[in-house]
Amino acid sequence: MSLDAQDPTRTDFPALGISDSAGVGFLFEQLKARFLADLARAAAHSEWERVRDHWSGAGGVPQRIAANWVHQAPDNLRPLLFRERENLISFINIRLMTTQPLKQLGIVNAEQVAARFRDLRNIFDSEIERCIDEVDLGIDKTAWLGRKSGVITQITENWLKTSSPELKPAIGKELNSLRAHIETTIEGRQQKISAAAESAALARERVDLSLPGVDRPIGSRHLIRQTFEEIERIFLSLGFAVVEGREIETPYYNFEALNIPEHHPARDMMDTFYLDLPPGSQPHLLRTHTSPMQIHTMEKQQPPVRIIVPGKVYRRDNPDATHSYMFHQVEGLAVDTDITFCEFKGTVEYFVREFLGPAAKTRLRPSYFPFTEPSVEIDASCFVCGGSGCRLCKFSGWIELFGAGMVDPAVYGFVNYDSKRVSGYAFGMGVDRLSQLKYGIDDVQLFFQNDVRFLRQFP
Ligand code: DAH
Repeated sequence: MSLDAQDPTRTDFPALGISDSAGVGFLFEQLKARFLADLARAAAHSEWERVRDHWSGAGGVPQRIAANWVHQAPDNLRPLLFRERENLISFINIRLMTTQPLKQLGIVNAEQVAARFRDLRNIFDSEIERCIDEVDLGIDKTAWLGRKSGVITQITENWLKTSSPELKPAIGKELNSLRAHIETTIEGRQQKISAAAESAALARERVDLSLPGVDRPIGSRHLIRQTFEEIERIFLSLGFAVVEGREIETPYYNFEALNIPEHHPARDMMDTFYLDLPPGSQPHLLRTHTSPMQIHTMEKQQPPVRIIVPGKVYRRDNPDATHSYMFHQVEGLAVDTDITFCEFKGTVEYFVREFLGPAAKTRLRPSYFPFTEPSVEIDASCFVCGGSGCRLCKFSGWIELFGAGMVDPAVYGFVNYDSKRVSGYAFGMGVDRLSQLKYGIDDVQLFFQNDVRFLRQFP
């Protein structure tokens, strides 16, 4: 809005398109600037009456603001408009009052000077009374003490400098005492406002010690995690270390170094997720088992090696009661110079008894894995029927637990171990399967649905 633009107070408030308090503040700032410019022009052309009528007379700006803005504003902006209008009125009146030289106002002696200053002081006092926060106070401070067009400056320019030498001392004295009064009053008000703000903040932030505490339900460890920890506890007690591996592997670690060459049928079972990488990059895949950590560990470390590897593995399986595209394994590897099949069997039997209970018997059944020779499946006597036959063990008396075997010498070749000097065993157990068996859970999907009704059963 330039100064020449049409007077905005003739426009109804809704048509101005202002919807927030910032917009209102800006609008009034512009009005004040407009008024000051008008006043300066008026002083130059002595159009005093015209300016006074326009800005404070009946039917002038304040009255139009009341009719066109305050009364037509939306409810949320009306109080603000009302307040801004009040401010504007005193802003205008004081300036009108202090723009003309005293002589023009008909003031010729010290008593009249004192009376004028008393009026000003009264206006100031009532204005400062209305200040309720720092923002108000800031506005008032500039209005009265502002260097460019504050009241004190105006008086200095328009009254003091233009006065007759006889009146100057009286004006100077009044001016100084008015300035001192304004400064101390603003200072005092400032302290009051900030003390009030402070005690309001204190009241808001006071801690009510009698309130009941916030009840934060403590979760429980997931059954899979509990099973991991159970398995770890057993092997830690046998001197194994727990190591974790990466979930993204190269085919070399996932297959080749485990003695599963490119076209080996064992790869079909592990048909898996390959990563979509830029052409020319080395292929990577989500590991299909924790066995690659056997290779990483032996590459880094000379025998003796005794590790278990808990972790997640991935296969392209369709989800059902016994399959999931992500599941959990614990790999085991022990390699030393004097490890016999007997130690292997003893370790496995110990684990089974610890995990399933002292009554559990262990059976080793011949099997095949490319990276173990001989390979076995570890079966446990059915812990539901004790071996006599039931639905869980499909009336065989035995339950298959996990695969294992003596490390195939070919694997040592990949990690530069001397296969004539060292020997060892490895195993890989499905943690989801072991949890299902031990806790009688018929659907592996329950592990991944995070239904608290399920989780709560295993606190
Ligand atoms: N990696 C095999 C799988 O995921 C499990 C396995 C079997 C691991 C025998 C072993 C092992 O270390 O000796 O099916």
